Amino acid sequence: MTRFDNLFQQGLAGFATQGRMRSCRQWRVAGPGLLQQPDTGAVLVDFSSNDYLGLRTHPLLLERASAWARAQGSGSGASRLVTGTPPQTVALEQRLAALKGMAAARIFSSGWQANASVVPALARLSVQVTGAPAVIVADRFMHASLYHGCAAAGVRPKRFRHNDMGHLDAVLEQCGGDGLKIVLTESVFSMDGDRADMAQLRAITRRHEAFLCVDEAHATGILGEHGTGLVHGQADLVVGTFSKALGGMGAFVAASDAVCRWLDNTASGFIYSTAPSPMVLGAVDAALDLLPGMAAQRAHVAALASGFRQRMAQAGLDVGLSATQIVPVVVGAEQTAQALARVVEQAGFLAVAIRPPTVPPGGCRLRVVFHAHHTYEQMEGLAAAIIVGAAEHVGEKAG
Ligand SMILES: Cc1ncc(COP(=O)(O)O)c(C=O)c1O
Repeated sequence: MTRFDNLFQQGLAGFATQGRMRSCRQWRVAGPGLLQQPDTGAVLVDFSSNDYLGLRTHPLLLERASAWARAQGSGSGASRLVTGTPPQTVALEQRLAALKGMAAARIFSSGWQANASVVPALARLSVQVTGAPAVIVADRFMHASLYHGCAAAGVRPKRFRHNDMGHLDAVLEQCGGDGLKIVLTESVFSMDGDRADMAQLRAITRRHEAFLCVDEAHATGILGEHGTGLVHGQADLVVGTFSKALGGMGAFVAASDAVCRWLDNTASGFIYSTAPSPMVLGAVDAALDLLPGMAAQRAHVAALASGFRQRMAQAGLDVGLSATQIVPVVVGAEQTAQALARVVEQAGFLAVAIRPPTVPPGGCRLRVVFHAHHTYEQMEGLAAAIIVGAAEHVGEKAG
């Protein structure tokens, strides 16, 4: 107990009153795609994590992680600007750049860190070169880390309606001044599972001479030919993460050589942070070896998601505009989503309730995510549990 604990307790009570308290539960990995509660021993099928290809327990990743640790150590020791870059990291960045059809890449310790530091770095270019502040135009559903980047840059983003290309065009049309125009969006939206229209984004940003920055966290590895994602050479800067389909942690930025050299000099998450562990990078190197040969797994995941969407539609449940491995079951109120998640958990599945501020008020949902090791029986089991739970808690919406 410290003398400030009272203040923190009061703050936490605010979350409790609103029913918005967050806390972490304990889980242990009980096998590929399975999670076990240490206290009850219950084993659940994981329909919540972003381990889309099941790579985080793949033997090749574990072996390469340990080989890179044996060769280079468990930690990297310092920022790369202090102790330099190992040749293995240079080669890995070249592979990542090629994956995205770009000339160069830089690795960051997390996707959050990449986004939060790339946006201020781009904004600084505007001030330094044009003398005017950057104008940031953003999809309103973009990830919290991109919002954080805008706040760190001291720029309030002009938001366009989610995936509404006409509105993006109109917002850009109204942007005056000499500052660099920067458009921020995602290729696959993490809470909705829908896709951005890359061809339109490219055309509109070209017409307005805006710099297009796309977060491919949920497309990298799992979508596109060979798992390259959806952008492939169509943006000015792409952020990809290792933490989702690539089964590791960390992230990368792929862009031109000049953009990457600018980031070396201005991205605080790159400059003032120790480079990621060689273990993590070894695992990513192995994941890149596997991606081209995983077309069957990607197709399986897509087929599971499609079958699940059909089941939900037949039951009158709302899956929004999902067109990927992420399928939200939108039920509205927080209590409804939480009650539904409990029913699903009792049936042996983990599909957590997502609530504000992660999604807008009234848009609470179960975020269901499909993985390569899920079976059709598991998908059907989950769908049946959701339909039963929805009949009980969402009432007339379930069939
Ligand atoms: C769209 C998007 N961008 C960035 C991130 C952050 O990535 P990381 O988990 O590697 O920090 C996430 C993940 O939560 C995400 O969903």
